[in-house]
Amino acid sequence: MMDSSKGDDSEFFGRVHGILMYKDFIKYWDDVETFQARSDDIVIVTYPKSGTTWLSEIVDMIFKEGDVEKCKKDAIFNRIPFLECRKDDMMNGVEQLTQMASPRIVKTHLSVQLLPASFWEKNCKMIYLCRNAKDVAVSYYYFFKMVAGHPNPGTFQEFVEKFMDGQVPYGPWYEHTKSWWEMRNNQHLLFLFYEDMKEDIRREVIKVMRFLGRKTSEELVEKIVQHTSFQEMKNNPSTNYTTLPDEVMNQKISPFMRKGIAGDWKNHFTVALNEKFDMHYEQQMKGSTLKLRTEI
Ligand code: A3P
Repeated sequence: MMDSSKGDDSEFFGRVHGILMYKDFIKYWDDVETFQARSDDIVIVTYPKSGTTWLSEIVDMIFKEGDVEKCKKDAIFNRIPFLECRKDDMMNGVEQLTQMASPRIVKTHLSVQLLPASFWEKNCKMIYLCRNAKDVAVSYYYFFKMVAGHPNPGTFQEFVEKFMDGQVPYGPWYEHTKSWWEMRNNQHLLFLFYEDMKEDIRREVIKVMRFLGRKTSEELVEKIVQHTSFQEMKNNPSTNYTTLPDEVMNQKISPFMRKGIAGDWKNHFTVALNEKFDMHYEQQMKGSTLKLRTEI
């Protein structure tokens, strides 16, 4: 069994088009690049730890017209396959999607540049969900600790240095978010913020429903909001990843549904680290109109 607490980064990560990535995924990268999209695919795109699971459950609830029982029938990673996820024959997002009936909901963390060309050619609807970098760094740190296939992240300060440097899977948060932000006026893309969802989930659910061309009844919106609350999703085995064995995801170290708030970074960054992060952030995001809220 793989021991997630040992080993250095090069044991787990390689590079694809210059971006740090899981070696297990890279091995079959051709399958990702040649993936055949269908025009009615809905693509959920995020940088890791930005609320992918939350948005995925919302979109699936919209597709299933608020039928909670239908959503509970299978784990979220089977209902909304993770495109580039691969572990030899044990885990294969491309295969899962290929076998799936339309309409499909696709989860990916790829940047604009790495997303398979087919999605662009087929004009698929895409939703990009963005979360402030500091909370992403905190969430990613715990993810490194609890999920097999990651090197020991070291101290939080050490991990943040790597995050700032883009030495984490999917590379620099800054480039990822900027690349998708540049696409925000594309009529097939809806750009959302985690912090907006925390602030007013009804408003954001309605936004998603309209984007997907659905009617927004009061009753349906209410059902979706209820079912996708942090507490509901934390207690729901089909959304909280507890159906995975400890060897893959050890929730005794940290639960997948960890805190689900905006601003937890304040409990993790020292004043000095925060200053350093802010200075670096300003340099990285210079010239971009993208503005994130680090608290609400
Ligand atoms: P924290 O670690 O800060 O708690 P992803 O799904 O992209 O991996 O993101 C996981 C993050 O989203 C975790 O953040 C998790 O708690 C949070 N999350 C998951 N479901 C949520 C919900 N219903 N409401 C708010 N946050 C949620």
